[in-house]
Amino acid sequence: MDRIAVLTSGGDSPGMNAAIRAVARTCFFNDKECVGVMRGYEGLIDGDYIPLTRSAVGGIIHRGGTILKTARSERFTTPEGCQEALRRMREAGIEGLVVIGGDGSFHGAKALHDMGMPVIGVPGTIDNDVAGTDETIGFDTAVNTALEAIIRLRDTASSHDRLFIVEVMGRNAGFLALEIAVASGAEYVAVPELPLSIGNLCQRLRLSQEKKKSHTLIILAEGVMPANEMKAKLQDTGGYDARVTVLGYIQRGGSPTSFDVVLASRMGAYAAESLLIGKSGFMVGNVNHRMVLSPLERSWSEHKTLSPELLGLVDKLN
Ligand code: F6P
Repeated sequence: MDRIAVLTSGGDSPGMNAAIRAVARTCFFNDKECVGVMRGYEGLIDGDYIPLTRSAVGGIIHRGGTILKTARSERFTTPEGCQEALRRMREAGIEGLVVIGGDGSFHGAKALHDMGMPVIGVPGTIDNDVAGTDETIGFDTAVNTALEAIIRLRDTASSHDRLFIVEVMGRNAGFLALEIAVASGAEYVAVPELPLSIGNLCQRLRLSQEKKKSHTLIILAEGVMPANEMKAKLQDTGGYDARVTVLGYIQRGGSPTSFDVVLASRMGAYAAESLLIGKSGFMVGNVNHRMVLSPLERSWSEHKTLSPELLGLVDKLN
């Protein structure tokens, strides 16, 4: 294998550039060529490649976003789209591909693998909802970005003795919300994985008032309901006047933390090395601090679960 391509797909996450750099530099280290595919699977179908030279990946290790841009591709979900992408790759002499993205992106990776193109996946998403790895690239940065914002919110919340609902991302999963709740010392966390009773929440808020807490913070995962809906329910059920903050895309931007840079560097290098020794159809994971490979389909067929320990901590420590 002499020429490897790398693409980023789905929502961007901080650390993707460090992973791209690691893939490219591992290729150079092994005297191989590396090309970047622009706009994820869209660029794969259009044959939109750029040479990833040593200088092209210089100075990107700490940059947020992705220099290769990213997209969610409808065209690639069709057999014609896949065939065209494969044809273009073969035409360009590409013999292997690293896909950096979430479990949605790995469906495309699996399709290419099944058609005979060697592919390795690298989990990059702030949601951390990919089975087969303890952390995904960008999760740690997103938690820290949210924490920074919440520390500011606490100042104003406590000055006014207010109740705040902070809505965080995570799609249908509560990993981000739970980690943020523990890190910020929130009084309550609402995650899609657990049923939510507004009556029970109101009871908890009353207890919080009895403990003479100067302010109360609820971390709400976007997959539960919109923050304004929760605000209305708390008003109707318990007469609470909550203030709402939706952190939104702020959580996806910014420079990666050192944890994410190191994770992305390890995963990118391991993915390229795995391809070069003939592996395909796998995703790289960080399990108990070690790089491992697991079948791509595990990322969507297995349901990753929230840590009961962390869930318990929010209750115990509030
Ligand atoms: O998967 C990452 C993520 O940021 C989710 O947390 C969020 O629900 C989604 O992407 C937003 O997607 P889009 O960029 O398509 O609006």
